Amino acid sequence: MASFDAIIIGAGPGGYVCAIRAAQLGLKVAVIEGRDTLGGTCLNVGCIPSKAMLHATHSLHEAEHNFAKMGLKGKSPSVDWDQMQAYKQEVVDGNTKGIEFLFKKNKVTWIKGWASITAPGQVKVGDDLHEAKNIVIATGSEPATLPGIAVDEETVVTSTGALTLKKIPKSMVVIGAGVIGLEMGSVYARLGTEVTVVEYLDAITPGMDGEVAKNFQRILTKQGFKFILGAAVQGVDVKNGKAKVSYKLRKDDSGASLDADCVLVATGRKAFTAGLGLEALGVEMLPRGQVKTDAHFATNIKGLYAIGDAVVGPMLAHKAEDEGMALAEIMAGKAGHVNYGVIPGVVYTSPEVASVGATEEQLKEAGRAYKVGKFPFMGNARAKAVFQAEGFVKLLADATTDRILGCHIIGPAAGDLIHEVCVAMEFGASAQDLALTCHAHPTYSEAVREAALACGDGAIHA
Ligand code: NAI
Repeated sequence: MASFDAIIIGAGPGGYVCAIRAAQLGLKVAVIEGRDTLGGTCLNVGCIPSKAMLHATHSLHEAEHNFAKMGLKGKSPSVDWDQMQAYKQEVVDGNTKGIEFLFKKNKVTWIKGWASITAPGQVKVGDDLHEAKNIVIATGSEPATLPGIAVDEETVVTSTGALTLKKIPKSMVVIGAGVIGLEMGSVYARLGTEVTVVEYLDAITPGMDGEVAKNFQRILTKQGFKFILGAAVQGVDVKNGKAKVSYKLRKDDSGASLDADCVLVATGRKAFTAGLGLEALGVEMLPRGQVKTDAHFATNIKGLYAIGDAVVGPMLAHKAEDEGMALAEIMAGKAGHVNYGVIPGVVYTSPEVASVGATEEQLKEAGRAYKVGKFPFMGNARAKAVFQAEGFVKLLADATTDRILGCHIIGPAAGDLIHEVCVAMEFGASAQDLALTCHAHPTYSEAVREAALACGDGAIHA
């Protein structure tokens, strides 16, 4: 029986980061992974391959729509679907191999196979038993489909199947206007697929700042998306490789249906803990299927911890990574900590959408006195030069203290811009602190500064 200081189950961003940090802090660490490659959903079938597809199709969009304007004339590129898939896989392989290298470098043992926890401090993989002072559940999540919908990953797909379609569909119905639906919908819309999104709520991207969500929907509509909001999908019928999606409008209960070559079910994800033996072990679970943990990631079983999508909180790779690092420190006897108030969220469409902290709706609901500083990318020279002047930066600050409470950006490189606000918030900065910080010209980040200026005496270029 092999013995470790920590056994981590799952090699996604939560698990592998936890393992590397724990090893760096001197612990003897093993990671158990059932997939053939490291990196979990994010690297294999999530964040990374989808970003490759978004990049490839964004480049196509640029060639089709903006090249001629810049004097770059000629035929737009045609799509070699097999090559695009191969490029995507190369990106994935490079990243998963990278984690393998990091494991070797940090002396993390990789145990291949599916794990179950047979007793406190004991894990079984195949016929082998392993023991550890600490066991970490970092098993992530899986797509949560709807009753009445049979996913075959060919005609009716989750995000996983959407990455490996045999050919580009002529039409696609996306169920759910969340992040997955809009990112993968963007990939196919840019490839010429007619994309219709059916969403239960009356707005897209639940939880996003309302003003941003509204603008986001308008921009996506301009890009060819069709939206049917306030519609509950009832079921999907597949005949001869074609799908019929039936839905009911919530306002009057009237029913209708849509035909499509492909249906993407993007109605959320749920914690993946099946087969771990948690019930037999008596691990306390939450009603929605996540593992119950305390503020230090501990379950009710001594030495058993859980992080990432398997516990409460936003299902984001970087949230899992931060929990992984914090838990490694706790296991090494230090004080690990995650600031849940400053976790950015990014949608990698074009334009990107990014947010951190409170939305305006949340501040209103909390009865908090706040001020809004807004700046449109139309006033940003760099954005205008590259046909990316749609969108704006919206900074929210406390009305009295000027402390930054949140930021919401729709526009070029929003997913990178948001981080200067994250750092500012970590330091408890005021909008004025940002406004008084010199920003290089011409950069997109000047729009963030201008939004901060708009919280005070006013933006310059608006
Ligand atoms: P989501 O929870 O973001 O959105 C699901 C949507 O489906 C909701 O708007 C919901 O109202 C709608 N819906 C549910 N049932 C429905 C029905 N019967 N008919 C019509 N609409 C229905 O889930 P999504 O997009 O599947 O993503 C799953 C998780 O993965 C999320 O937590 C997301 O944050 C994360 N993720 C994050 C990414 C990023 O940060 N860029 C990328 C991809 C996923």
